[in-house]
Amino acid sequence: MPATTAQTAKSTFEKTFSTHASHVFAAPGRVNIIGEHTDYNDGFVLPCAISFNTAIACRKNDRQTIRAVAFNYDNEQDEFAINETIDTSDKHWTNYLRGVVAQFIANNHAIGGLDIAICGNIPQGTGLSSSASLEVCLAMAINEVFALGLTPKELARLCQRAENEFVGCHCGIMDQLISACGEENSALLIDCRDLSSTAITIPESLQLLIINPNVERKLVGSEYNARRQSCEAAARTLGINALRDATLASLEAHQESLDISTFKRARHVVTENARVLQMQTACDNNDLATIKSLLASSHASMKEDFEITTQQLDFIADLINSDDSHACARMTGGGFGGCAVALIPHQEVTRICQRLKNTYESTFKTPLTIYFAEISQGAQTLEIA
Ligand code: GLA
Repeated sequence: MPATTAQTAKSTFEKTFSTHASHVFAAPGRVNIIGEHTDYNDGFVLPCAISFNTAIACRKNDRQTIRAVAFNYDNEQDEFAINETIDTSDKHWTNYLRGVVAQFIANNHAIGGLDIAICGNIPQGTGLSSSASLEVCLAMAINEVFALGLTPKELARLCQRAENEFVGCHCGIMDQLISACGEENSALLIDCRDLSSTAITIPESLQLLIINPNVERKLVGSEYNARRQSCEAAARTLGINALRDATLASLEAHQESLDISTFKRARHVVTENARVLQMQTACDNNDLATIKSLLASSHASMKEDFEITTQQLDFIADLINSDDSHACARMTGGGFGGCAVALIPHQEVTRICQRLKNTYESTFKTPLTIYFAEISQGAQTLEIA
């Protein structure tokens, strides 16, 4: 059996710092089943935590610095002081750590020096929230080691601010929240306005798959922030706090005051919010036909109105959604690449995966990777020495 991320984080810690770690933590990545770009509009999302994760092994130090080693980056190291201004680094991975630590300090939490070793197995750059899991794992480590008493939701908010203010991505709360609060075997319907959540069971007859087209994501940061600005501009025109408060009718009533692209961005958000709520009912009623139509229309809306899909993701979604069975798929995550999420009746999995792989690989001359996702719990303490 390959070593777990926790085992590798521990052994990396020992090799680097010549002592044992006192604590080990893990925080998962996520796949979003439906509800894309709705979180920063105060809307609804339906993500679940997955069995890929980031683990951190750590121990307090008496240096007033954070010393970190990243197994996945050839054991690259970083060290920064916690009693001086924390600047960004040209080592991309460490900016997530620096951002989280800077937030604890800005909020006057009494933290000290910490040595940490990190190991993750979430495929990076595929929209499965490897960065949110790193942020949440470190925030949980600091919270536990220095006994700060923050709740998982407070940790998620802190990590979101780290990403917004330090890393510069104006993301919503979904990724950090599901990484911190996910539940084993359930997706969470999250109301991003008050952060309340309801556990939703995906019908047992469906297998959750994550499909990675293995194409590099492009323009993620700039285009993501641009979409968010369009949504906020539309809300201002409608005279509401957030698009969560719009209906299709109220949006259409303002169509002439919005340019066509802003109107389409807002229409995606308004219709997507409605789809998340319909998905809750469809899952409760085991209504596979409605689930299929919701995932297919979510993908179409991201393609035509929000304009964040790629030809590879369109190909994958079209092939699965046009299958005669209840199989369905859509792009998942921020967009401009990344993965698709699929729900496939168990008895159809082999046939559909075979067909998808063959046709995708012959069309795009790129290998396709399919992960069988297990729905896992959120961030947890694995060991305390
Ligand atoms: C990224 C962001 C999330 C969310 C999704 C799109 O994953 O981090 O906050 O906006 O994109 O749904």
